[in-house]
Amino acid sequence: MYDGDIASTLVTEQAIRDKIAELAAQIGADYASEQAESDLLLVGVLKGAVMFMTDLARALPLPVQLEFMAVSSYGSATSSSGVVRILKDLDRDIAGRHVLIVEDIIDSGLTLSWLLKNLESRQPASLQVVTLLRKPDAVKVDVPVKYVGFDIPNEFVVGYGLDYAERYRDLPFIGTLDPAVYA
Ligand code: PRP
Ligand code: MN
Ligand code: MG
Repeated sequence: MYDGDIASTLVTEQAIRDKIAELAAQIGADYASEQAESDLLLVGVLKGAVMFMTDLARALPLPVQLEFMAVSSYGSATSSSGVVRILKDLDRDIAGRHVLIVEDIIDSGLTLSWLLKNLESRQPASLQVVTLLRKPDAVKVDVPVKYVGFDIPNEFVVGYGLDYAERYRDLPFIGTLDPAVYA
């Protein structure tokens, strides 16, 4: 698939699987007592988080409910502006719920920083973030991220939900894109 477009494999299918098992055990332990109040609510950020969201939900040892949001940054396509527009909002109220935002990657951190403020204003019982990948720039903005799968170098990565121009989301692993593809 995508012959020649992928320069290298950054995170293998097996490494993703192992990391999700690890995160699920940790999250399961952390939310064991909250479970008595209500089911944990996973909020996936479309579209990148879809693969991670579905695999994580199935690996978690407690019941979860699934919600999705779609957001888009205003401004240029190449750099996040930090101004975010809601394309699809949550279907229900999250007041009093234990909410875990599920992201595939935190790059500049601007999307997440906006999302945290937005969801916090809806008064959830708790609000945390799990991301499969995080890039170095993300640590420069103050986004509290409780669960991080992998810290990765500042390279253009695709696969397992991550796209370049909507392609490569269907790859089962995470790889770096050959610069010739976007040159
Ligand atoms: C990507 C990624 C994160 C966000 C991270 O989504 O899935 O949601 O960008 O970038 P940031 O930390 O710099 O804000 P994108 O907007 O490309 O939409 P997609 O998930 O549909 O691909
Ligand atoms: Mn996204
Ligand atoms: Mg994208």
